[in-house]
Amino acid sequence: MTTPDVIPGLEGVIAAETGLSSVDGLKGELIIAGFPLAELAENATFEEAAYLLWHGKLPDGAQLETFHDELAQRRALPQITLQLLDAAAAQQTAPMDALRMVAATLDLDLDDDPDTQALSLLARLPTAVAAYHRLRQGRKPLSPREELSHAANYLYLLHGEAPTPAQVRALDTYLITVVDHGLNASTFTARTIVSTDSDLVSAITGAIGALKGPKHGGAPGPALDMVFEIGHPDHAEPTLRAKLERGERLMGFGHRVYKVRDPRADVLSRAAARLYESSGQQELIELYDLARHVEQTAVRLLEEFKPGRNLQTNVEFYTALLLHGLNLSSDLFSPTFAIGRLPGWIAHCLEQQRNGRLIRPDSVYTGRRDRRWQPLPER
Ligand code: ACO
Repeated sequence: MTTPDVIPGLEGVIAAETGLSSVDGLKGELIIAGFPLAELAENATFEEAAYLLWHGKLPDGAQLETFHDELAQRRALPQITLQLLDAAAAQQTAPMDALRMVAATLDLDLDDDPDTQALSLLARLPTAVAAYHRLRQGRKPLSPREELSHAANYLYLLHGEAPTPAQVRALDTYLITVVDHGLNASTFTARTIVSTDSDLVSAITGAIGALKGPKHGGAPGPALDMVFEIGHPDHAEPTLRAKLERGERLMGFGHRVYKVRDPRADVLSRAAARLYESSGQQELIELYDLARHVEQTAVRLLEEFKPGRNLQTNVEFYTALLLHGLNLSSDLFSPTFAIGRLPGWIAHCLEQQRNGRLIRPDSVYTGRRDRRWQPLPER
């Protein structure tokens, strides 16, 4: 039984002030450091968005160049990270678990100040994800290319060839779309860790652990699997109805905060449409049309099965479609989400370190109080 004073899941509890992002779940509005999400995600590069979150303003040309150079020079992985990735690949460890393990090694210099740690983490996380992807396939990791942007270099490290401008634009848009989102579970985890005066690397390691779960960043793979399983518009209704009758959750739908369509879904569906059209591949264009049909059917059936719950499309549904169009396999979806969310996590940690107080909520004890010690033979 729920104790009246307890707020399960801390829903509606305001635990921090932030200048980083504002989420209005009833209006379906997301503001990132003053910008409407769509404006930022469709125009900025990932580096510009990260700089904006860390410095509170967009960089000018010289600042952007310096920021790019500072990141590009740090992309190579420490030896210990590569050794760990190698050992994890030998055991076919799941990518998010491998990432959580190696995140803790991305900056091992405890004397580094938070700004240096932040740069090292941001620069190296994509290198680690791509290196692990190749190692798991029995291939050698590639060396980062300093002249490429953050997004372009990540795609190069995964696929071994420089991406097209349309692919880079699509990935920049995706990474910025997920760059920050209020006090979500992983961001709260990161803030909690630095609130103890622990360090940034520990906070990011914890945040990756929180992001992994299917109620947070683990949903896009299953969302795409669902579209493939449906396969044809005529199968959408019977397949989704059967899932709901079995009590399953439809991946890519529902959100703790949004009670209307997640604004990130709009940005990503437009970006996916542009990417798929630019590819000229009929099979991708058909997949996009199928996904739209699945989305409309799912929203209609969710209203039928869970009336009044307002279960709408969330960010993960079109994440899956966009990343699939960039030739990312579904086991890369959550790690790529982590790469996008990283500047937000770091910005929240820096904000917490500047203004925050130790995060330490209370609990209500509901256990027994009448026990007395029994020596082992008497139990
Ligand atoms: N499919 C079917 N039913 C659902 C779904 C769904 N996707 N989402 C919620 N419901 C139902 C629940 O079964 C519950 O019904 P009940 O009260 O009859 O038992 C009701 O709606 C409320 O669900 P809660 O889990 O209490 O809602 P909460 O706000 O905690 O959940 C969450 C939000 C976890 C995202 C949920 O909607 C879900 O599991 N969605 C599917 C997974 C997913 O898409 N995750 C990605 C989230 S986006 C992100 O974090 C980046």
